[in-house]
Parts: sequence; C-alpha cells; structure tokens
Amino acid sequence: MRTVEWTEQNRVRMIDQRRIPWHLAHVEYDDYREVAQAITDMVVRGAPAIGVSAAYGMALAAYQSGALTVGDLLDFLNVAAVILKKARPTAVNLAWAVDHMLDVARDESLDRADDIRRALLAEAERMADADVAINKQLAAHGAELINDGDTILHHCNTGFLATVDYGTALGTIRMAYEQGKNICVLLDETRPRLQGSRLSAWECEELGIPYEIIPDTAAGYYLRRGEVNIVIFGADRVAANGDVVNKIGSYQIAVLAHENEIPVYSAFPTSTADLTMANGDIIPIEQRDLDEVRAPYGLEIVPAHFNARNPAFDVTPHRYLAGLITEQGVLRAPFTESLAVAVKAAQG
Ligand code: MRU
Repeated sequence: MRTVEWTEQNRVRMIDQRRIPWHLAHVEYDDYREVAQAITDMVVRGAPAIGVSAAYGMALAAYQSGALTVGDLLDFLNVAAVILKKARPTAVNLAWAVDHMLDVARDESLDRADDIRRALLAEAERMADADVAINKQLAAHGAELINDGDTILHHCNTGFLATVDYGTALGTIRMAYEQGKNICVLLDETRPRLQGSRLSAWECEELGIPYEIIPDTAAGYYLRRGEVNIVIFGADRVAANGDVVNKIGSYQIAVLAHENEIPVYSAFPTSTADLTMANGDIIPIEQRDLDEVRAPYGLEIVPAHFNARNPAFDVTPHRYLAGLITEQGVLRAPFTESLAVAVKAAQG
C-alpha cells in the first residue's frame, strides 16, 4: 500500500489521512487542482509525500490538458505549477518537485505533447520509487543510533503515511524494531492536528511496534525523568547551517532534551535540505486555519470567536541537534560542511 499512487485510469489516488485511525479510505482525483487542494487540506501530508503528490499532480495536469502542441501544454503546466506550489509553503519538497517536473517537461528533445505527458508520468513514478528506496537507506543509518532497550521520543508523523512508503524518523524506529531491538516509542500527540496520536500510533499498531501516546505537554516530564534515551523527529525544510524546520513543538522538545543531555536527531532525505536558506529563521512558516485550534476535527473546544494563533512549524537551531540522519549517512556538526557534502553526493 502506497500513500499516493497513479491509477490505470490516469488518476491520482491517495490514502485520506484525515480519516485515520478510524477508516482506511482512499480518494481519487482527475484534476490537478484537486491534488493541490488535497495537499492544503492535509488529505496527504508530510514533506516527502507532499513532494511526490505534487509531482503526480503535474503529471495529472499534463494528462487532463487537451493541448495538442508542446507550447500549449507548457503554458498549461506553468499555471499548474503555480497552483500546486501555493498549496503549502514550508516543506521544500513541494516546490522542489514541481520545479523538477517543469524541467522535465521543458526538455527540448521532447517534441510532441504526448511525449511530455509520458515523460512526466515516468518521472513521477521514478520519484515515488526513489522515495521508498531513500527512506530505507536513511532508516538503516538511523537504526544504528538506537540501542536494544531504548525508549525513543518521536514527534508528529514521519512514517509511511508521511512518505510514499516506509517513512523517515519513524522508518528509522521501524527498522530498529525489525532488527529485533526491544524498543518503546513515546509518541507526542502533536496538537492541533494530532498526527502523533492519530497517524503514528496507527502505524505502530499496524506494525506491532510498542508505543505509548503522551500529551505534548508531558514530553519534558519524561525527558527529565531520564525515561527517554534518544529523540528522533523529521524535517520539512533544513537550512544550509543545519537548522531544522519541523512540526510545531519540535523546538521545545529539542531544547528540553538538550537540557537533559539526551541526543536529538532529525531524519530526512537530502531533498528536504534547502541550501539557498542560510539559516532556519528565513524559512517561511505556514500559518494555518485557526479553527484547527478552536475546533479540532469539528470538536468545538471554545467558541468560534475566541482568539487563537496556529503556526504549523517551528525552527530548531542546529546547536540542539546531535546529528542529521540522511540517506547519505548520519551527518555531524559542522552541518554547513557535512550537509553540503551530502547534498552534492546525493545529486551525483
Ligand atoms: O503538517 P504536516 O503533517 O505535513 O507536518 C509533517 C511534519 O512536520 C513531518 O515531521 C515532516 O514533514 C517530515 S515527514 C517524513
């Protein structure tokens, strides 16, 4: 089962993550604008899954366009690229994937519109397969950091649902478990969208990985009691200096772990690194609908007119990180050097 895939009817099919853990249901789209809306509405979420969904969205745009000439098809794709890129601002995988697909479409050796369509679909499929392979590589590196008997603190959802398959930080934990290590995962519930309690716990249930959901506010309690051996979370965008932008709440966990001398790692594919950003503070942070705070999943906690704020991500400065887990290995400080080397190696 993949989080996102192409169907024989030339549609994009996704697991509807809004319905997990209660229902495992799929949605199918035949219009790239629906794919963009699905990303905004978090039908699909998680940086790598968003990136591949946007790539399929570009392929879908090519197939739905009736353009007969290369020029008309490129015009259509340029508009689709703008709409898809606007879906969510923080995870760099989205903009990266869309720009990459535009490059593929503009290849001058493709001299018929149908050639471009086929090339875009083939590239989206290649990116989906590569995502799975890269996740397994980085998980193998990360699993070496987890010892038999460890308790791991994890934030948000970084498992197969956040990728095409397998996962990044949760993939690392999964691999350690599959290696036979006796481990337990404390899953932050991750308010307000509850990716930890809804999605990560569901994945752990499916895989048999021992876990316990904890309120976000309990993380410090367990870190201080010495009940956590290692913290691993994902990343939505990583700056050139190693600052990690990830799900809101990651920063406070990293600071508390540092205070208690517990190592913190961020796991991500090198495609999540954005070397054009010198540090994390200049990365755009998505501000989401306030009703996610006031009435999560329709449950009215406070009246609709109560004031709120809802930043979706925060910045963990690199000094709080013991290392960065990538498919190129576990990177150590100084990250400005190790990350640049890893990105270059990944690009071949
Ligand atoms: O808002 P979300 O659910 O898309 O945020 C997801 C995260 O912050 C993940 O930690 C990150 O994308 C890495 S997923 C492998």
